[in-house]
Amino acid sequence: MKQNKGIKIYVTESYEEMSTTAAHLLGAQIRLNPTSVLGLATGGTPVGMYKNLVRMYKEEGLDFSGITTFNLDEYYPLSRSSDQSYYYYMTDHLFGHVNISKDRIYIPDGEAKDVETECANYDAKIEELGGIDLQVLGIGTNGHIGFNEPDTFFPKSTHLVDLVEETIQANARFFNSIDEVPKQALSMGIGSIFKAKKIVLLANGTHKAKIIAETLYGNVRPEVPSTILQFHPDVTFILDKEAAAEL
Ligand code: GLP
Repeated sequence: MKQNKGIKIYVTESYEEMSTTAAHLLGAQIRLNPTSVLGLATGGTPVGMYKNLVRMYKEEGLDFSGITTFNLDEYYPLSRSSDQSYYYYMTDHLFGHVNISKDRIYIPDGEAKDVETECANYDAKIEELGGIDLQVLGIGTNGHIGFNEPDTFFPKSTHLVDLVEETIQANARFFNSIDEVPKQALSMGIGSIFKAKKIVLLANGTHKAKIIAETLYGNVRPEVPSTILQFHPDVTFILDKEAAAEL
């Protein structure tokens, strides 16, 4: 395996081990700083991590009462009550099962009438609360992080994104049909993500192997947004062995 200065890489045996490793890392963050601001991700990858965090809350007393969370993104337009919304996902997988305070949960509003104000307020709130201590990321097969799609520049702040066909197809598995997948989303920008003090990226499965190798060792460029992570001072990748296969 080639070395990439500054980036820590954990290769685990399985999805389960990737999930418990990530949950332990978040658990340590919460115990060491019970008022941490966490940046959270959705998608299939972190489901096992959330399951473990719920177990740690129930069995080990992991305390979420002082924690603040900012989610990376939300589909647009989409109602919070839709079972495809990331709001619903977060309630279903984490918030509905732990003692987090509702008024410390932030997710971009997929029903916002004034998108520009919603995005500006989101970034301002992150700043106001002292920035993100630990940001969890998944990764799209095209290198998107949050919903920052391949582009000719790195978007700085929270913004409205046109989803690319590859993402719409990849996410169609969560909807009844591909026509139901929203064509846009609100996403924290690469700049917003990059400001996090620590970043943890999770990936599993053979289909992520190519993009993980590209992210770690490819040229840093906005056409593969995840490559920017090479410049961040504190990034940890937690991979299963399939996703690490091309390293
Ligand atoms: C989605 C989310 C991302 C996520 C990615 C990978 O589109 N917006 O935050 O990291 O796709 O998803 P999955 O974990 O299901 O592979």
